[in-house]
Amino acid sequence: TENFFREKTLAGKKVLVTAGPTYEAIDPVRFIGNHSSGKMGFALAEAFYLQGADVELVTGPTSQRTSYAGIAVTGVTSAQSMYEACTALFPGVDIAVMSAAVADYKPIEVAIEKIKKTNEDLTIQLSKTRDILKSLGEEKKPGQLLVGFALETNNERAYAQSKLQAKNADMIVLNSLRDKDAGFGHDTNKVTVFDRDGNEYNLSLASKQAIAADIVNIIIQKLHA
Ligand code: CTP
Ligand code: CA
Repeated sequence: TENFFREKTLAGKKVLVTAGPTYEAIDPVRFIGNHSSGKMGFALAEAFYLQGADVELVTGPTSQRTSYAGIAVTGVTSAQSMYEACTALFPGVDIAVMSAAVADYKPIEVAIEKIKKTNEDLTIQLSKTRDILKSLGEEKKPGQLLVGFALETNNERAYAQSKLQAKNADMIVLNSLRDKDAGFGHDTNKVTVFDRDGNEYNLSLASKQAIAADIVNIIIQKLHA
């Protein structure tokens, strides 16, 4: 019955969506994480699904759940495990949207036992994680559409456009943290979409569901262009 209500616009299309934060372990009880709620990624996965696509959702730890049994959910924890899930799925998809807030750095060593406090300050050495979007951009085949997100607090447009180029993405969705009703944890979001042809779409403040539907519609237009 679930299938009955789906639009058939993206029938036969396979889509990969990432959502949520990643957690980078420090020791068995602690991690480095971020405030991503996963709401935008889940809303995107559902918007693609409602347009008839086959959806693979790779999500970091969040309290989000989808009620659509037809969405295939892979739960991951670290940036490395998200990277592995995404590189395995990417060759089989037509569209990939990387909305996860992937950690940029992880502890070089994960302590096997809980780190005990001492009287000294503690320094944790971090190394860079792999950039999943950039890796997929390097693997991208003709006909595949790759969409990234950019989270910025300043110089938003310039940074977003440079990410579009540097990661070989076809579109970048800019989330500006300047907007007080947008971004982490909020139910609403305000985004600007940039594409490779220099087009810019300013979406107005709306629910993450409505924004997701708009982003999916922009992608549908691109597929038809
Ligand atoms: N991203 C990724 N893998 C990483 C880091 C980021 O795939 N290790 C992706 C995000 O999912 C997003 C895009 O890259 O789609 C941009 O993420 P963002 O954090 O805004 O940019 P960074 O390239 O990480 O640069 P910075 O954080 O310094 O702005
Ligand atoms: Ca980052």
